[in-house]
This record gives sequence, structure tokens and C-alpha cells, in this order.
Amino acid sequence: MTRRVRKAVLPVAGLGTRVLPGAKTVPKNLLNVVDRPILSYIVEEGRAAGIEHFVFIVGRGQGAIEDYFDSMPEVEGILEAKGKVDILADVRRDLPQHAGQMSFIRQMAPLGLGHAVWCARDVIGDEPFAVMLPDMLMAANPPALAQAIAAHEKTGGNIVVVEPAPEGEAHKYGIVALDGQQGRLNRMTGMVEKPPPGTEPSNLFISGRYVLTPEIFKVLETQARGAGGEIQLTDGMANLMKTQAFHALEYEGTTYDCGDKIGLLRANVAFALARPDLAQAAREAIQALL
Ligand code: G1P
Repeated sequence: MTRRVRKAVLPVAGLGTRVLPGAKTVPKNLLNVVDRPILSYIVEEGRAAGIEHFVFIVGRGQGAIEDYFDSMPEVEGILEAKGKVDILADVRRDLPQHAGQMSFIRQMAPLGLGHAVWCARDVIGDEPFAVMLPDMLMAANPPALAQAIAAHEKTGGNIVVVEPAPEGEAHKYGIVALDGQQGRLNRMTGMVEKPPPGTEPSNLFISGRYVLTPEIFKVLETQARGAGGEIQLTDGMANLMKTQAFHALEYEGTTYDCGDKIGLLRANVAFALARPDLAQAAREAIQALL
């Protein structure tokens, strides 16, 4: 029996250089997709997968994220008094049910994804946990993280969600090597962060959802800098793989990279078209532009 995955780490401290100037004063993961911030969808996905505690790794100037997940009595009071129940429900939908179900940790220096995850060690403690990269919005049923946790319950150990990289783009990501490929869940034999073009061990890239064992923290503590001079989570996982099993899950769904201008646009269009209340109007608006 594996222990239940109850906590998720969300590294949100990235500068958002690909979506500037929008991300200059608004943290990039608070940019909207249709009518709510990207983080609203990520937290919704986590909750649907059984996550009870979200651990945000934040940077300077990102206090708005904490405020977004706090109540706003003056606005909620006015909405209540005016009987605007739908808007009130929207304003409250992402709040933790009880105080203490969200933690915010300052990363203090942009040292890389591996360092960001390591910052969560005390809050996670000694249990398996999820990592969700909030740039990556995943439309899937069941939700991507739920697919990853189901895989973890089957295999134990560590799970990395992957998908085929677009032609010629594998070198931009973390890439996995597999011990043969049968179905969607396969044992991994290696992984490499941003391999030079032509050296990729496969075309499957690490797309932003992980289930990891707490032993990763010990490895990350002494992990040397890797690609881009950063402490890479991929390098830490590759080291942990010497003593623990890793499986790659090719999840079923569609990923939108919202850290990228066109990815964010695609997410807006796709999510509007998937919304029963907006689909018709969205289709007409898009068609009128073509
Ligand atoms: C990070 C990870 C990489 C992964 C990618 C997905 O890279 O290090 O393994 O493939 O996210 O978006 P970054 O986008 O921070 O360079």
C-alpha cells in the first residue's frame, strides 16, 4: 500500500520572461484564461486528485498570489448584500476550506526548479507528494494529476508525466529514457534536462506533473547546478533513480504552455470553446475574426 498523496508543491516564482510585459506587475500564473487565473485551474485539478494542502514556492513581488487565495470580506459582504450569489460563488471557489491548507514559501533566490522544490521540504515532511508546474495547463479527464496518482498507486515509487515533444523542440525540455515502451506507463532508465539537439534519448518530454517520494529532498540538498546554471529537478530525479524506481506516464489529455504567448492564447480559445455557457459566443467571436 502506498501512502496517500495529500500535498502538492507549486513552484510559481518564475519571472515569466516569455509573457512580459503582462507578467511585470501580475504574477504570470495569475494571468487569466477566459475568466479566472491559471492558478485557479491548477488548484482545481489538484483538488480533483485529492490534494488537501498546496505549497506555493513564491518570489518577491508575488504577494498577489497569497491575496488571491484569501477571503475578501469587503467585496464578499457587498455581493452577499446584493444577492449576487453566482459572482460570490466564483470569488470563493478557489479559497481553502480551512485556514492552514495553503502554505507560501519564499524561494529568496532564483536558483532553479530543483531548489524551488527543495524549499518545500519542511512542509512536506516524510510522505510522497505531487509537484505541479503551473505554467502547464492540462485539459484532461480524469485530470492529469489524478492520472499520475493512480499510476503511483499501481507502481509505487516516483511518477513523471510525459508527452511527445513537438518536432525539433525536445532540447527545450527535460527528456526521459525508457526501458522499452508498452502502453502509457513505462519504467524509466534515465532522464536529461535540455539535451543538446540530436542527443535526446527519446521524444518524450517532462510536461509538468510529478509524484515524488520525500527522499528527493536529501538528493536536492547537495545537487550541483546543471543546465542553465540552475539546480535542476531533473538532475535530482536522475540521481534518486539510482536507488528508487521511476515510471513515466504518457497522460491522456492536452497541454497548454501558458508561460508562452501563443500557448496562453490557445488555452484561452480552447477553454472558452469547452465552456457550455460561452462556447457559442466564443465560436462566433472567433469566426468573425477569420
Ligand atoms: C521545466 C523542467 C523541464 C520540463 C519543463 C516543462 O523546465 O525543468 O524538465 O520539461 O519545465 O515545462 P523550464 O520550463 O523551467 O525550463
